[in-house]
Amino acid sequence: MAEIAKIEVNGTTYEFPIITGTENEKAIDIKTLRGVTGGVTTIDPGYKNTGSCESGITFLNGEQGILRYRGYSIEELAEKADFLEVAYLLIFGELPNKEELDKFHSDIKDQSVVDEDIKKIVDAFPKNAHPMGVLSSLTSALTSFNPKSVDVDSEEEIYKAVVKILGKFPVLVAWTMRKNQGLPFRYSDSSLGYIENILKMMFKKPGEKYIQNPVIVNALDKLLILHADHEQNCSTSTVRIVGSSHAGLFASISAGISALWGPLHGGANQAVLEMLAGIQEDGGDTAKYMAKAKDKNDPFRLMGFGHRVYKNFDPRAKIIKVSADEVLADLGIADPILDIAEGLEREALNDDYFVSRKLYPNVDFYSGIIYRAMGIPTEMFTVMFALGRLPGWIAQWKEMRVRKEPIGRPRQIYVGENLRSFVPVEKR
Ligand code: CMC
Repeated sequence: MAEIAKIEVNGTTYEFPIITGTENEKAIDIKTLRGVTGGVTTIDPGYKNTGSCESGITFLNGEQGILRYRGYSIEELAEKADFLEVAYLLIFGELPNKEELDKFHSDIKDQSVVDEDIKKIVDAFPKNAHPMGVLSSLTSALTSFNPKSVDVDSEEEIYKAVVKILGKFPVLVAWTMRKNQGLPFRYSDSSLGYIENILKMMFKKPGEKYIQNPVIVNALDKLLILHADHEQNCSTSTVRIVGSSHAGLFASISAGISALWGPLHGGANQAVLEMLAGIQEDGGDTAKYMAKAKDKNDPFRLMGFGHRVYKNFDPRAKIIKVSADEVLADLGIADPILDIAEGLEREALNDDYFVSRKLYPNVDFYSGIIYRAMGIPTEMFTVMFALGRLPGWIAQWKEMRVRKEPIGRPRQIYVGENLRSFVPVEKR
């Protein structure tokens, strides 16, 4: 029998269907609420109880610490797949066969050139501009160089747009970093794998041969896979809502980058490293910072802890921690910042404040440590997150457009002034 929910408003009872997802998640379908009740709506700031869409891309169970892309566990994908396979899986729904994967990679390579005029835009930014602002602007600028909108009824057109952005985005990422460091811009090397190419574009110094380190290639591949999608988070919801107005793919992704920038979202990886460095400079007293994090009169929060959805260990944090150990061991780095991170983790996991609020280390707690060991500047950490999240944003944009979802337009409850008469300036 179909399940229903009853809502009583001023003595009248209304019935609404309950919909059940493939993992048995339940939601009250209130699509008809305003119509049948004569204008009553719901209010849910931060959307803690609101499902914005039905989606077949990523399943997340925060209580049990489960994350799956298209039904495959994140643990298995991080161990067995590479980033491009995961990107294909997220965007097109199934793992590619060898032929599809080779074609996908080759088509991406063909698209990994950006218009020379984009260099002028990069050059116009101040050297110390935050790379997330630069990346968001450059991604938006891609729209001007590729003005034709994508016909979402054509699989071929969608495919072309997908390989275009997957090809060009790493170039923008590399140029953003190189501008910051005063290095000349480099183009893609089509003889390389996707990850190796990104590393070379970012790090190759003029006149020096760039030597790939397989441990670093593997760690970056894994980091990008772990970041590739996370259902309806702040930046993904932004991409969907901007795309729902039929703004183009590049413009929607650019908006997602801006949303990701904030320290409560993707910017947390930069904030974690800055926090750890600050604690180190202040003498390494982790107990002092634990106390600050718990003090309600102190705005300080333990960055890299807590998550809107995970009320258990973030499964990505577990995988990243192992990766961080591997990278540091391979590079022979004894990073005192890692000791501080481990100290904070130990203390938080045994502290009633953190335990009772189910605040565990999240994906960003350890990712910054790996990026730092790889030689990536701190301000670039969130850019690396964006590089990983790109396939997720594309997949979510595509799902929303192909399903012809309506424009996103939430309601509000107005709590401002009632009607009043205008007072001329001289009488105010
Ligand atoms: N340090 C200290 N206290 C915290 C923290 C923290 N990092 N996170 C949450 N709390 C407390 C918060 O003060 C509140 O306490 P109380 O119930 O006494 O008022 C309680 O825990 C619940 O917090 P909330 O802010 O209502 O939870 P939320 O779901 O709105 O926020 C969060 C989730 C991730 C924004 C938050 O935990 C946070 O600010 N964490 C630090 C930033 C961070 O690491 N962000 C990266 C998230 S993972 C990457 C991504 O997907 O973007």
